[in-house]
Amino acid sequence: MSEFRILAISGSLRKGSFNTAALRAAQELAPPGVSIEIAEIGDFPMYNDDIREKAYPESVTRVRKQIAESDAVLFATPEYNYSVSAPLKNAFDWISRPPNQPLMNKPVAIISASAGPIGGTRAQYHLRHMFVATNSHPLNNPQVMIGGAASKFDENGKFNDAVGRELIQQLIEALVIWSNKLRGKS
Ligand code: FNR
Repeated sequence: MSEFRILAISGSLRKGSFNTAALRAAQELAPPGVSIEIAEIGDFPMYNDDIREKAYPESVTRVRKQIAESDAVLFATPEYNYSVSAPLKNAFDWISRPPNQPLMNKPVAIISASAGPIGGTRAQYHLRHMFVATNSHPLNNPQVMIGGAASKFDENGKFNDAVGRELIQQLIEALVIWSNKLRGKS
């Protein structure tokens, strides 16, 4: 059986990001036969339709291709002012434009992490709403919202919360099942 390929996108550009660290935990927790690659969106320019009309920037083309070649996409979003972060919205806007919009019909899943108590819940629901525009297929459950993140990651960014690690593992497994269902495989 061929490898199931997940592309992961973090909405935080900072080195010590809890969201990016959660994606690294997902890489560790992925079962055999599932690979998770973390994309780079920090080199995307600010969205400008004039630029797009001339040509997609190389950085954007790279990630659009990575998405197109993946079986599913896993997003990790911080919550900035009750919504997704500007870097994630910017990347999403670049990714969402024609032709061959790569999130079309793509199975997607969301993790969010926040220093606050409710773990980026509001950002998750905004991101879920954005998937309507791209006609992607978000996984409903399990919901992975990592609140109080500062106490759950160590100084090296290792995710130490046993319940959260279990949930991430379940999320990856559910995403594979969901993707296979969408493709008509059981
Ligand atoms: C935040 N933060 C935040 N947290 C939250 O729970 N709800 C919010 O609305 C906001 N708003 C917000 C706005 C801006 C501009 C910043 C920079 C931060 C805190 C944020 O969740 C926290 O910094 C996380 O650690 C960011 O995620 P990363 O960078 O650790 O992945």
